[in-house]
Amino acid sequence: MEIKAIGCEPLQLKRVHLENSHTLKVYQENDGYKWLKKALGMTPDEIINEVKASALRGRGGAGFPTGMKWGFVPRDSPKPKYVVCNADESEPGTFKDRYLLERDPHALIEGMLIAAFALGSKACYVYYRGEYKYLIDIMDAAIDEARAANLIGDNILGSDFSCEFYTHTGAGAYICGEETALLSSLEGYRGHPRMKPPFPAIEGLYAAPTVVNNVETLTAVPQIIEMGGIAWRDLGTEKSGGTKLWSVSGHVKKPGVYELPMGYADMEKFIMEDCGGIRSGHNLKAVIPGGSSVYAMRAEDVIGKKVLMDYEGLVVAGSLVGSGGFIVMDETVDIVDSTKNLTEFYKHESCGWCTPCREGTDWLTKIFTRIADGGGRPEDAQLILDLCDNIEGKSFCALGDAAAWAIQGAIKRFPEDFKPYLTEQKKFSNGNGNGTH
Ligand SMILES: Cc1cc2nc3c(=O)[nH]c(=O)nc-3n(C[C@H](O)[C@H](O)[C@H](O)COP(=O)(O)O)c2cc1C
Ligand code: SF4
Repeated sequence: MEIKAIGCEPLQLKRVHLENSHTLKVYQENDGYKWLKKALGMTPDEIINEVKASALRGRGGAGFPTGMKWGFVPRDSPKPKYVVCNADESEPGTFKDRYLLERDPHALIEGMLIAAFALGSKACYVYYRGEYKYLIDIMDAAIDEARAANLIGDNILGSDFSCEFYTHTGAGAYICGEETALLSSLEGYRGHPRMKPPFPAIEGLYAAPTVVNNVETLTAVPQIIEMGGIAWRDLGTEKSGGTKLWSVSGHVKKPGVYELPMGYADMEKFIMEDCGGIRSGHNLKAVIPGGSSVYAMRAEDVIGKKVLMDYEGLVVAGSLVGSGGFIVMDETVDIVDSTKNLTEFYKHESCGWCTPCREGTDWLTKIFTRIADGGGRPEDAQLILDLCDNIEGKSFCALGDAAAWAIQGAIKRFPEDFKPYLTEQKKFSNGNGNGTH
């Protein structure tokens, strides 16, 4: 597993290779908590303006500008304000936050403290996915160390700023990564999404103003305070500031977590050189660049196309940055099989709250199962697209859209994989998805 920066100095990955990088001692030996100290000497507006200037966009998937989100919080509200870290990391193909949580927990604490100070919050929550329970001990130990050093608790570093930290796990539900479902779960309710608006910045945890940010978003905040917003932005592009982590998996020789400057040119070089190329004797067939919920790209949309790896570049190339879960597939992958797998994932993870997603993902799974068993029909491609149309934009939360995009992308871009199933009744070799699900 490679964990390295390419095309930039490591920022997110600066400390992860150090021995005992998770400890306060090592973090402070490497400038840790200096930027909290600097932030405590700034006004909240100055901090928010630096984050706005940095063009930092949320790394959880939606890419919403972080400074703008912070600016929505009514800081003069009499209600408490909360900072919540989304450490659910449940998007298939995504495993970058895990490294930060395991190896650099103090960077997250420092980023959250700076956010809390800027937003007038006295309480920070880190919400872990259930499967990351083993990482909570590392964070709890880091919180204890920080508290003992007067970095958490009352009058932090002798200032008027007081703030507490809490960790919490979900129980392994993808939907609890959706920010409002996460808040429901954190309050002890079933993890159903909530109506937006009101957005969490106005009415979030316990109906109070709340900022929910991804792990990688928050660990970027101390870097922004250190360098200044504009300098951090200029590591990337005008609209996609800074550096970004990509979780690379699949058929490359060197999978891993890579830090790239935003706007890295180009995706072909990244796959073929930086990630070691496709495994021996095989060729690139497809890339899903941003986690399973974005459109897959064909090899010919990557090779020779100089695809820029940032929010704008990937839209031009017909996909999205999403969570940066970069899944590379060679020609051995049957897109019908891999899409059946994803369809089952979305059906399983649909929370059942709204009809289009609950029923639609169930129907899609049934159709894919029939196709896998040799019962494909020529009209199935259109039937699947019609079903996706009835889910996309008509579901209560973005999980429904995500399910539709993953499946639409596969059908529209890989018709040659579907054709033998729909016209010649090809079936999966064991009649049940090649034993992969
Ligand atoms: C089904 C679903 C799952 C999500 N899972 C995650 C997740 O695991 N981690 C995450 O940070 N954001 C996830 N998100 C996005 C969050 O709703 C939210 O946009 C994000 O936490 C905001 O933080 P950011 O602005 O720093 O990206 C998910 C969204 C949806 C619709
Ligand atoms: S879209 Fe799916 S996950 Fe979202 S509320 Fe509806 S049923 Fe639940």
